[in-house]
Amino acid sequence: MNKAIDGSSAELLQAQAHIWNQTFNFINSASLKCAVQLGIPDVIQSHGKPMTLTELVTALPIKQAKACYIYRLMRVLVHSGFFVQQKINKEDEQEQRYFLTPASRLLLKDEPLSARLFLLIVLDPILTKPWHFLSDWFQTDDATPFTTAHGRSFWEYNAEEPRLGNLFNEAMASDSRLITSVLIKTARRAIAETFPDLKCTVFDLPHVIANLQGTENLEFVGGDMFEAIPHANAILLKWILHDWNDEECVKILKKCKEAIPRKEEGGKVIIIDMSVENQKGDDRSFKAQLFFDLLMMVLLTGKERDRKEWDKLFSDAGFSHYKITPMLGLRSLIEAYP
Ligand SMILES: C[S@@+](CC[C@H](N)C(=O)[O-])C[C@H]1O[C@@H](n2cnc3c(N)ncnc32)[C@H](O)[C@@H]1O
Repeated sequence: MNKAIDGSSAELLQAQAHIWNQTFNFINSASLKCAVQLGIPDVIQSHGKPMTLTELVTALPIKQAKACYIYRLMRVLVHSGFFVQQKINKEDEQEQRYFLTPASRLLLKDEPLSARLFLLIVLDPILTKPWHFLSDWFQTDDATPFTTAHGRSFWEYNAEEPRLGNLFNEAMASDSRLITSVLIKTARRAIAETFPDLKCTVFDLPHVIANLQGTENLEFVGGDMFEAIPHANAILLKWILHDWNDEECVKILKKCKEAIPRKEEGGKVIIIDMSVENQKGDDRSFKAQLFFDLLMMVLLTGKERDRKEWDKLFSDAGFSHYKITPMLGLRSLIEAYP
């Protein structure tokens, strides 16, 4: 019988539902990872048109006995916006078909800007293990929960385990392609005018650039940015400063300052990182920024910064002024001048 429940019971049940949803958040990411590992977006894409469930389960690399479970996985992923399920048109006699969405298209293996490897590295057991050590970490002197879980830092692990290191570097490369494509579309003229004969040096830890072949305009240099950074007119730090705490960032920025000319001669540091703010009620972006901030805390000593924190960094590192342009989705283009 459907009896009306009193206010306090309704509140109690709502609280329970809220807890369940938060507790089960990991099911969203685990289901998505499974879909990516099975290649569901790729199978739908290579089919050339939206697929029925029967077509999908036949094409997937799974045991026949497991075929009956796929619709349950797909139901969660339709709910979370990775697929749309509908008939091609109203007269279509066929069952409903699965369509890709912009988010699942960005997870395709052959998509040059794919976010697939980023998803796979963030959900790799080596990176998820430290989350189980978060409360322990608060009670130790360890620098990061990653160290509490693995007994070494994230960068050390990357250097010592080629599978992880390569996956990480590839994931970063895809993200760089995505950001570059947005930057070039948005600011092609400005970039061409500022850098007519652009010569690039890619600077990273020696093991990361080992065996990479440069070109006439592109050189790979290995080193430690806390020691010295190669001289350049401008330095681009993409997803670098959020890896480090304030003290470490001030050191990096001071090394950048030593490496570039004076402001009057065009010296500047260009940073691609988040500036955390809850803009115009865009709650989803804000939530993703908060998640990124905790990710930096768990894996590294870093953090995502708000305007006030950026301001303090630049002033502590002796920069005269800076400009934050939020033009890259959750991230901003930040220009700092010596
Ligand atoms: C989050 S990744 C970003 C990579 C790249 N900028 C991008 O966005 O694709 C941070 C990079 O910093 C490099 N790194 C870490 N410690 C470093 C150091 N002491 N000196 C130079 N590079 C370092 C790592 O190897 C890694 O490639």
